[in-house]
Amino acid sequence: MEIKKIFVVGAGQMGNGIAQVSAQAGYDTVIYDITQELVDKGVNIIKKNLERNVAKGKMSADEQAAILGRLKATTTLEDAADADLVIEAIIENFDIKKEVFEKLDQITPPHAILATNTSSLPITQIAACTKRPEKVIGMHFMNPVPVMKLVEIIRGLATSDEVYQIVEETSIKMGKVPVWCKDVPGFVSNRVLQVMINEALWELYEGVAPAENIDNIMKLGMNHPMGPCALADLIGLDTVLAILNVMYTGYGDPKYRPSPLLKQYVQAGWLGRKTGKGIYDYSNQ
Ligand code: CAA
Repeated sequence: MEIKKIFVVGAGQMGNGIAQVSAQAGYDTVIYDITQELVDKGVNIIKKNLERNVAKGKMSADEQAAILGRLKATTTLEDAADADLVIEAIIENFDIKKEVFEKLDQITPPHAILATNTSSLPITQIAACTKRPEKVIGMHFMNPVPVMKLVEIIRGLATSDEVYQIVEETSIKMGKVPVWCKDVPGFVSNRVLQVMINEALWELYEGVAPAENIDNIMKLGMNHPMGPCALADLIGLDTVLAILNVMYTGYGDPKYRPSPLLKQYVQAGWLGRKTGKGIYDYSNQ
């Protein structure tokens, strides 16, 4: 089966990045969110990213126009009726994803593949919300999507070989490097990454060092491009907490217990870059 049209559910930081790389790869792309304001915000970020590429001489104005010509925005989920591949990138909440996958299963044509960009929720459980579990797969992009090379591909218990191959080829066409792993809580990426971020938040909670020092130690000492506190703010502290909770529940192991400081930041609405405040303050940016 050839993928021609990709429908991205969610225009937030992951969704707009996925829609951008999809349109850049030549796919007819639709970006969906529940309100016009959210969709417009996502499309504007894509436009700004493309403009920056043109200004840097990395892309011609004609290419930019062609990419935007392939991108459509909608607030109507029924517009997924002719999609070949749907990539869901909404909030990390199983009940909300369940509702969306049940609807997508009704709306999309029988051949359509339903992929989820979930960071940690079980692909097998999401697949079981549909009547096509063999066509459901995890397609886990990294933030910022236009820059990061990896797509972690996670097969559910029922995912077919054909679907896996198509998603692998599509990821390569998007300029990414697909790497598979099994369907376990947190997959490979977040099982490693979030334990490190959580440990940094425990250090912050215990007053071991300020955030700047924790980040500098990891940047200068381990050559990480950004420290764990800055990275947590980039990912979103609500997402970090949601992933840790999935692993804490999924493995029943106290090593995943979220730092109380992380919970408190989320309660305060300090979610990171996206809210202008997280571990660091971004109000002047
Ligand atoms: N969107 C698009 N492009 C972006 C961008 C964004 N949000 N942020 C940076 N860029 C681009 C810049 O325009 C720049 O492009 P050029 O090379 O063409 O000039 C390039 O990326 C480098 O940016 P900067 O020079 O501004 O800054 P940097 O060198 O420090 O790189 C970074 C920024 C790429 C974010 C780098 O710090 C980095 O790799 N950080 C780690 C990111 C990471 O670990 N991501 C994974 C998070 S985990 C996840 O996403 C999964 C999950 O489930 C939680």
